[in-house]
Formats: sequence, C-alpha cells, structure tokens
Amino acid sequence: MPAVSMTVNGKTVSGDVEPRTLLVQFLRENLRLTGTHVGCDTSQCGACVVHMNGVAVKSCTTLALQAEGAQVTTIEGLAPNGAPLHPMQEAFRENHALQCGYCTPGMIMTAVDIVRRKGNELDDHTIREELDGNICRCTGYHNIVKAVAAGAKAMAK
Ligand code: FES
Ligand code: FES
Repeated sequence: MPAVSMTVNGKTVSGDVEPRTLLVQFLRENLRLTGTHVGCDTSQCGACVVHMNGVAVKSCTTLALQAEGAQVTTIEGLAPNGAPLHPMQEAFRENHALQCGYCTPGMIMTAVDIVRRKGNELDDHTIREELDGNICRCTGYHNIVKAVAAGAKAMAK
C-alpha cells in the first residue's frame, strides 16, 4: 500500500493507505479525528469539510493521497488542546446555531473559509449562497446564518 504523509492540525502524520482511501477515512479511521463527519459520501452535504492548504475541501471527495504534503486543518485544529473556542465556534454556541450538531463541524470549517474569501462583513444573502454546499437537517438555517455573520465579525478582532 502506498504511504501518505501530511501535516494535520500542526502535527506531521503518515500512514499506509489504499489508493482509493478517502481523506475523510484517513482522518477518522487512521487518526481518530472523528469531528469530521460523513453525511452523504456524494459531495452534497458538507459535513466532511476540512481545510487543505487553507482552502475548504470536501474530504469525502478528496483522496488521502491527494493530500500528500498538504497542511490539513480539521475542526479539532480550530481550538486545540483545551484552547478557547475559535470565534466562529463561539458564535455558533452563542447563537444556538445547532441542534443535533452533525452538520456543525463542516458548517464551521466552511464559514471560516467564507470569511477568508469574502471578509468579515457578510450579509445574509452572501452567507446563504456560500453555504450552498452545506446541508443542515435540523435548524432551518436562520441561526446558522446569524452565527456566521457574528463569527465573521468576531474574527476581525
Ligand atoms: Fe462529504 Fe457529504 S460527506 S459532502
Ligand atoms: Fe442537525 Fe444541522 S444541527 S444537521
């Protein structure tokens, strides 16, 4: 089996993977980073979003081997080792932007990427358009949109 090596949440990691192993499988099964979820496996729900070299990607449609040498950040990496919550995590908590929480890690990783691309002042329309690739089965999105706007502002501080 080919070996793969990458940096995940600031740590160098490596492992033997099959060519078909998905990045999400590598993160969850090899590294036990189970905050990254699988909701569909067909690139629709966004529960699996992580950052690869600073850009949001769906780890269910990225091969582990494609992440060779990459810097990967998962939801666990936003507030490592008991550090305070990332401002976007805090905004989701404050704004009651989750119910079951299944979609939340992907929503937050996408939200942080939206801020990187669109800045800290986000209107509702932009947030709703940009969250097109993230599905929530519970909340009706209203509080998620509020949280993303608040988190974006907080990230400017
Ligand atoms: Fe990746 Fe749904 S599990 S988009
Ligand atoms: Fe349940 Fe979004 S909070 S799927």
